[in-house]
Amino acid sequence: MADVLRADAPELHSSKHYHPARHAAARTTDYVFNQLIPYIGNKRRLLDLIGRAIDSTGATAGMTFLDLFAGSGVVSRFAKRRGFRVISNDWEPHTRPINTCHVACNQAPPFTALGGYQSAIDQLNDLPPRVDWVTTHLYPRDDEHYDVTTDRMFFMRKNGMRLDAIRHQIANWKSEGKIDDQEEACLVAPLLYQACYRSNTSGVFKGFHRGWGGQTKTALYRIATDLKLMPAVFHDNCQSNQVHSEEAESLARKLSQEADIAYIDPPYNQHPYSSNYHVLTSIALWDKPPVPPTLKRGGKSAIREDWRQSRRSPYNHRDQAAKAYADLLSALRARYILTSYSTDGTIPLDAMLDANADRGLTTVFARSYKRYRVSSQRYSEKPLNIEFILLVDTQRANTRSPGELRRQIENAEKSALVAHAGASRFTPSHPSSSPPE
Ligand SMILES: C[S@@+](CC[C@H](N)C(=O)[O-])C[C@H]1O[C@@H](n2cnc3c(N)ncnc32)[C@H](O)[C@@H]1O
Repeated sequence: MADVLRADAPELHSSKHYHPARHAAARTTDYVFNQLIPYIGNKRRLLDLIGRAIDSTGATAGMTFLDLFAGSGVVSRFAKRRGFRVISNDWEPHTRPINTCHVACNQAPPFTALGGYQSAIDQLNDLPPRVDWVTTHLYPRDDEHYDVTTDRMFFMRKNGMRLDAIRHQIANWKSEGKIDDQEEACLVAPLLYQACYRSNTSGVFKGFHRGWGGQTKTALYRIATDLKLMPAVFHDNCQSNQVHSEEAESLARKLSQEADIAYIDPPYNQHPYSSNYHVLTSIALWDKPPVPPTLKRGGKSAIREDWRQSRRSPYNHRDQAAKAYADLLSALRARYILTSYSTDGTIPLDAMLDANADRGLTTVFARSYKRYRVSSQRYSEKPLNIEFILLVDTQRANTRSPGELRRQIENAEKSALVAHAGASRFTPSHPSSSPPE
């Protein structure tokens, strides 16, 4: 059976689910959404459907939830708040401090040498500005008199110097032995959030606006306000949660214990996350890489040469994605496997359904979302796509043919199109169009 959730379903309006006004990452103290980085393909708007799929398994608190492509970490946090022991993984280096802070830590680490977490944050916010790697490479020479043809404008210079001062001090504390890995992560994660929130971009770091705030200037308040760290919000699920930074299939093969639920949310398209979030990765690693000159072709975005190709996932390639997915599915030891995907993605739907049907009893959960349009001028044939979840019970033989599963997704798409044509009753939910919050 396909479980189709409509945007007017009552649970979408309940406080347990993402609501843009109540859960803006910069202001909310809700653990799941606090300081959540804006991330392409993040599933904050799909948590209701993921929750529905989890509920249908009957899994209870204390069981293990393995999030293999954790990204922003919102699904890991959601599972953690439901009481699961969470194993969170993603191979992008910037996700490690973020998920160590919000998923691995059940409370603020002690920061004994610095007088506690709040005191460490206060000391960082009080630092004098500093010119270091970020200011040198990612900011204009002058915030008012810049040249859009040669200057990089990822952030205002004044915030660049705050970022440099804070990251430099965190690195010093680490090398002096004043903070450990978890303490470092609980300072770097809020800094990465600030790096997103204060950026002069629409969310990804492949480019920046020409001029502060772009044409509309609607985001000027966040770009121009002084960068200030805020302490993270923690949640204690009384479990020993883990964070890994590995290739998903190789981690799946290594884990000694079977997961109760494994969640798979691979990239949908050809754009590698390493290029989209290279600024966050450099701040996280603080390895001060050489950066191409601005006037070199393709150099303006400052993407490190080695990261244009590294961690280029098979899921980014049409000719490799289906095999990578099938291999991962057969390597996974888990009672239930959940996959989020879209009818827009690089893995053909039939290949995905076959791989699931091979593992066990497969159920479809689906909802529509408005199609992402790069430009409002560009014609988009289809106004929406179906975002679906496949749930496999690996201990029960499949009784539903891939053809039947496909029809369920197609029918969900047809009824969504009819409803869209009638009254536009479905909520736009593609996160990549959202600016940093
Ligand atoms: C669609 S995003 C995940 C979004 C995440 N569920 C969220 O809600 O924020 C896909 C993620 O997969 C990661 N990734 C891509 N290929 C990978 C691989 N082979 N192993 C591990 N992580 C991978 C990317 O770094 C990216 O963060």
